[in-house]
Amino acid sequence: MALANLRKFILGKAPLMYVISEEEERVERLIAAAAEQAGPQPFQIFTWSCIHGLRKGKDRVEGSTDPVAALGLFLRLKDPSLLIFKDLHLLLDANAPLTRQIKECARALRPTHKKIFFVCPQLTLPPDMHSSFKIEDVPLPRSEELSTILDATIQGLPSAESLTKSLTPDLRGKLVRAAMGFTATEAGEVFSTALMEQERITETIVDLVIAEKSALVRKSGVLEFVTSATGTWEIGGLFNLKKWLKERGQAFSPEATKLGLDPPRGILVMGVSGCGKSLCVKAVASYWKLPLLRLDMGKVYDGLAGPPEEAMRKAIKTSEALAPCVLWIDEIEAGIANQQQKQAGGHEARVLALFLTWMQEKTAPVFVGATANEVEVLPPEILRKGRFDELFYMGLPSAGERKEILEIHMRKRNVDPAKFDMDYLAESTDGLNGAEIEQGVIAAAFEANSLNQELSEHILANTLRNTVPLSRTMRERIQKIEAWARDRAMKASLETI
Ligand SMILES: Nc1ncnc2c1ncn2[C@@H]1O[C@H](COP(=O)(O)OP(=O)(O)O)[C@@H](O)[C@H]1O
Ligand SMILES: [Mg+2]
Repeated sequence: MALANLRKFILGKAPLMYVISEEEERVERLIAAAAEQAGPQPFQIFTWSCIHGLRKGKDRVEGSTDPVAALGLFLRLKDPSLLIFKDLHLLLDANAPLTRQIKECARALRPTHKKIFFVCPQLTLPPDMHSSFKIEDVPLPRSEELSTILDATIQGLPSAESLTKSLTPDLRGKLVRAAMGFTATEAGEVFSTALMEQERITETIVDLVIAEKSALVRKSGVLEFVTSATGTWEIGGLFNLKKWLKERGQAFSPEATKLGLDPPRGILVMGVSGCGKSLCVKAVASYWKLPLLRLDMGKVYDGLAGPPEEAMRKAIKTSEALAPCVLWIDEIEAGIANQQQKQAGGHEARVLALFLTWMQEKTAPVFVGATANEVEVLPPEILRKGRFDELFYMGLPSAGERKEILEIHMRKRNVDPAKFDMDYLAESTDGLNGAEIEQGVIAAAFEANSLNQELSEHILANTLRNTVPLSRTMRERIQKIEAWARDRAMKASLETI
């Protein structure tokens, strides 16, 4: 909700706006600022809450704690006025008089210079009321606003002078970036806790803010910060997918923005389990050096983190505030598979619709890396162009790819592949997926250890050959997935099996 949008609304015809935000004070400030810009005539600004009733500044209006009466009073005002109405989400449930009064307002305020802003932390309107409102989501504060909050916090501290002196542009950038994802109030609190009793601003303070942010992301209930150690690919094979990702490696840099290159919106990686889908998404984040957020769709749908739509909306908001970042949605079909068993138009359908609309319209550089095992249940609208930049299909690795995967996992365990006949070993892994190859290397290392020997070609080949591949028990299913993906997705590998 940019200031410009608010100003346009104040000057426009529609009288009711529903503002989704937990930050009442910030919204009040934004509305006041927009009203000031809106034009020559001054607006009176009222607020209403279920405790204080109608107030103008500090002055209370008698007999206005009842919401229906308060709206009635506002309807009768003559001068240009704005009303910031809080708590609606607590009152609307089966409240016929209030519902009716709001509909009256929608009609009666149209020809006037009076507007009502309903400020609520969630969108909880009955469907038949949606059309009466302009619905706006307030994004979390971005860098400029956070920078202002940082300055204001510093000014409020006793050692303001020395703190300001030690705040280099580099440290300011880092602190502001570390605070992205916080609401304005939270950012203020985090800054002041981190800076309390400090004389100078240092990297340690940046770390304190980052630590607070991990806790905040967890608090959302459905998102998790994933920290990954590797800065390299460590992915065997999958040439096409790696090429695609490498070509876009610089897309999130300021230079790319200057050149007008659109940051990619995301990829959907589908296919057999254990072939490295999750691995690829994790690798993208570390290769592009972007923070990685994992969204747990199961938790979105189970309702423990609040109503599913709200949980999704919050997750989207947090990811946008942390942008540029990678949003990892592992096994995106988990919730969708359930959805088909439940009635259409339920929570699940709305969560999916919300996600898809966001995918199509998002402007924040959030790269979505989604993975799916059960491709057949994916609804066609997910696969439609404009949502994901590319759909990738991953099958079982070819001999060449298996060799690369083997080498990666041997090297990880300090075993030098140059001392082994790798072509021979790759042959022993026929039918295995990446995860099984990794498990084979681990098992062989244990075996060698228990025999008090160095890991030998013989032990490795034997262990790998004795692994029963998933692909044997699931041959039919894999063939079905492959047939499905052939016309719909790009192959992640260069080679065919
Ligand atoms: N192409 C690959 N290159 C290297 N390691 C792989 C590859 N594919 C799978 N693995 C190993 O198997 C593990 C499990 O793979 P994962 O990405 O979870 O598979 P998926 O998500 O497709 O089920 C990975 O963490 C990695 O160690
Ligand atoms: Mg996976």
